[in-house]
Amino acid sequence: MRVGIIGTGYVGLPTGLGLAELGHNVICADKNESKVNMLNQGKITLYEKDSQKLLLKNIKSKRIRFTSSIEECIKKSDVIIIAVGTPIVDADINMSDMRDIFDVIKKTALCLNKYKLIAVKSTVAVGTCDKAESLIKKLNHKADFDIVSLPEFLREGFAVADFFNPDRIIAGVGSSKAKKIITKLYKPLLNKTKILFVNRQSSELIKYAANSFLAVKVAFINEIANFCEKTNADINEVSRGIGSDSRIGGKFLNPGPGYGGSCFPKDTKSLAAMANTFSLDMPLIKTVIRENAGRKKQISMRILESVKNIKNPKIAVLGLAFKAGTDDCRESPAIDIIDELLKHNVSISAYDPQAANTCRKILGDKIQYADTLYDAFKNADIAVILTEWEQFKKMDLKKISKLMKHKNILDCRNILDLKKVKKHDFKYECIGGKK
Ligand SMILES: NC(=O)c1ccc[n+]([C@@H]2O[C@H](COP(=O)([O-])OP(=O)(O)OC[C@H]3O[C@@H](n4cnc5c(N)ncnc54)[C@H](O)[C@@H]3O)[C@@H](O)[C@H]2O)c1
Repeated sequence: MRVGIIGTGYVGLPTGLGLAELGHNVICADKNESKVNMLNQGKITLYEKDSQKLLLKNIKSKRIRFTSSIEECIKKSDVIIIAVGTPIVDADINMSDMRDIFDVIKKTALCLNKYKLIAVKSTVAVGTCDKAESLIKKLNHKADFDIVSLPEFLREGFAVADFFNPDRIIAGVGSSKAKKIITKLYKPLLNKTKILFVNRQSSELIKYAANSFLAVKVAFINEIANFCEKTNADINEVSRGIGSDSRIGGKFLNPGPGYGGSCFPKDTKSLAAMANTFSLDMPLIKTVIRENAGRKKQISMRILESVKNIKNPKIAVLGLAFKAGTDDCRESPAIDIIDELLKHNVSISAYDPQAANTCRKILGDKIQYADTLYDAFKNADIAVILTEWEQFKKMDLKKISKLMKHKNILDCRNILDLKKVKKHDFKYECIGGKK
C-alpha cells in the first residue's frame, strides 16, 4: 500500500519505518525541513534502538522517503497517518493543543484527489475524528474518504520492537471499508496480534484511559514506597509480591522520582480537563497529577537534606532522559528536580548516555554536562540516579569512591546492588528499600 505519514517524531518515524519494513511504500512528511533533509540522507533524528538500521535499509530499498511537502505526501498516498504533536501549550487550560492536527486536516481536505483513508495516530481529544470528518466535508464537498482513530501505544526506547510486537492494535472505525484497509495495513502482524475494532470516540478515550491507568500505578507504588521507608518493608519485595498477582501485573510497579515524558503528564491533565468540559470531576486522576508533581519536590528536598551542612555542594546527576532507552527529556523528572535544586546554591554535573543534547535545549548552561559517566562524579558531594540506564547498573563503584568528595549515593531507580555499594563504604539510600 502507499502510506503517507505526517509528522516524523517519536511516533511518526518508528511507524513509518515499521510500515516500510512490512513492505508498504511509505512517504513521510514533516514541516521541519532540516529533519527531512537529515532523514533523506539516512541520518536518524532521534535515539531509538534499531531505527538507524531500519532507516538505511528502507531508504536503500526505496520503500521510504521524506518530504517537507504535506500536499505531496497526501496526494501520493492511499492511507494517510497523522502523527503530529498534541502538546499542552496553556497550563491554565491543560487541554492538548489540536492546532497541528486541524492544520493537517485542512490541508488533507483540499488535497483529496481520490478515496483515501485518514488515520489519526496522534493522541487527540475525544470527538476529534468526528469534528475532522465534518470539517473535511465542509471544505471539500466531493471528498471521498474515511477517517479512523488509530492511537499509538509504543514505549519510547522500544518503539521499533513495539511496532512489530504490539499487545493489540486499537482502531476506531465507522465503516467496513475502513476496517478492511486497516486489516490490510497490518496484515503481516496479525499472526501475533489482534486488531480491536471499536467506535472512534472509544478509541480516542482508550488512549487517555490507558496512560492514566499506568500513571495511577506509578503514583500508587510511590505511595507504598513512602510507607516502606517508615517500616522494615522493602518496596522491591512488595512490588514483586503484588505484581505476581495476575489481576495486578508486575509492570509499572517500580518506585522512582515520578512519571514523566511527553505522554503521561499531558494525557492525565488533558483527560481531567476534557472531563471538566462535561462538568465531570475526575478526583482520582487529579490526585495522581498533584502527587506526581509533589513526588519530584520530595526527591529534591531529600537530596538537599543530604547536603545541608555542605557549603555550595556539588551534585552529580546520573540520567536526564525521562526513562532509559531514549533521548527524550520532555517533562523528565530530572529536569524538574534539577530546576528545584538550582534554587538552592548547588552546582550540578550531569551525565546521560543519550540525552545531554536534548536536555541542553531545555536547561541550557545552567548545569555542567559531563563528557563521561565518571567525570560527573569528580568532587561530588552526592550522586543521584534519576534514569535507569543499564550503564549505571554496571558502573565501577571502586573508581567512583575515589572520585567523589563524599561517598553518598541516592538511587532513585533502585538499580544498584546494595552489597556492592556497602563494600565500597558508600552512604547509600534508595527508594523504599534497604539502607
Ligand atoms: N512519544 C510517545 O511515546 C507517544 C506515544 C504514543 C502516542 N503519542 C502521541 O503521538 C503524537 C506525536 O507524538 P511525538 O512524541 O511523536 O511528537 P514529536 O513532537 O516527537 O513529533 C511531532 C512531529 O510532527 C511535526 N509536525 C508538527 N506539526 C506539523 C504539521 N502541521 N505538518 C507536518 N509536520 C508537523 C513536528 O515537526 C514533529 O517532527 C502526540 O499526539 C503524542 O501524544 C506519543
